[in-house]
Amino acid sequence: MAIDELEARCRAVLDAHWREPGFTVPNATTYPWQWLWDSAFHAVVWAHLGEPDRAISELRCLFDRQHETGFVPHMTFWADPPDGQEAFWGRAGISSITQPPMYGHALAELHRLGVDLPDDLVERATGGLRHLVSWRVRIGGLVVVAHPWESGCDDSPRWDHWCPDGWSIERWRTAKGTIMASVERAPGYVPIGNNELRVAPVGFNALLAWNLRELASVTGDAALSHPADDLVEALQARWDGDLGTWVDAGDSADTSGRIRTSDALLPLLVEHRGEVVDRVADLLVDPGGLGAPYGPRGVDRREPSYAPRTYWRGPAWPQLTYLLWVAARRIDRPALATSLGEALVAGADRSGLAEFWEPDAGEGLGAIPQSWTTLACVVQRAAVADAR
Ligand code: GLC
Repeated sequence: MAIDELEARCRAVLDAHWREPGFTVPNATTYPWQWLWDSAFHAVVWAHLGEPDRAISELRCLFDRQHETGFVPHMTFWADPPDGQEAFWGRAGISSITQPPMYGHALAELHRLGVDLPDDLVERATGGLRHLVSWRVRIGGLVVVAHPWESGCDDSPRWDHWCPDGWSIERWRTAKGTIMASVERAPGYVPIGNNELRVAPVGFNALLAWNLRELASVTGDAALSHPADDLVEALQARWDGDLGTWVDAGDSADTSGRIRTSDALLPLLVEHRGEVVDRVADLLVDPGGLGAPYGPRGVDRREPSYAPRTYWRGPAWPQLTYLLWVAARRIDRPALATSLGEALVAGADRSGLAEFWEPDAGEGLGAIPQSWTTLACVVQRAAVADAR
């Protein structure tokens, strides 16, 4: 697809999803509120589309209800919260868990594009990242999540350890509700762990480490880069070369925490060991495993749980493909980056900018259109620039 046409489609989706007081909903009907990591991705796209004011506004809204400890809620209900919102989350107008802190990357990307970063935003982002490294319970040096929703990948087979009678959408929905009751909280209702879900997922920790490094690249703050280095070291110990994945720390380490998923390869964002990088670069495009024409499968096709049309259990996810594309560029693998980038653009096009899609045919699944899928135009712009 021509870059102008793709950008016009992406802009139209983001415009239609823009809401007061200045943020983008992921989808108008399925996801009519603000989500943390989605908003960070939207800010990146807005900035690339030449709308820095919208990018800044999106991030300001994301931090609007930040707790004084630095905790950032994963959802903000600006208007019309759903019935029972406060009873479910224990807080009015927000959720009481978090999501991958992608705002470090968003601010770094804005900075690289020459956008002046307001001091208050940098302070808030620093506080959010510092909160995660200083308040969270740790396992093997990695931070835990308080609920599967915090990972952003809530129905991934990586959680099947906590769905003991076998995964089904109904059983897991019930389990997710139950797991909410055991979230461990600090004063202020701030989530710090979970007594019934002892797990430090490698995907979440990779994103935390990378976002710390991204923000540190702007501010030079050692209070961000040092904890990132510690997390990277702890992540390295989780690599299983025989299996070809990083393994989650905690109670699922010998069970579902080893299932080969694409989000478990996100440590590529912070990995430096040559042999590991080479291996992961191959795994991402191996047609017998994760590799697929429309982007890495969410779950390796050799896994019994692989289900290419089921939410988080096999489809290709555009925001993950984008992150792996960023990683491929970082480690200087142009062929891999091109392959991932082309798959993302093709999938966005074929699926109608869907939330996620079937990895072999590109058939759109989930919410359509979804705002984060406009990341395709960031990738396409880079391809055009590289070709010059
Ligand atoms: C789904 C996804 C989550 C995302 C949200 C809004 O719940 O699993 O990662 O943030 O939708 O798009």
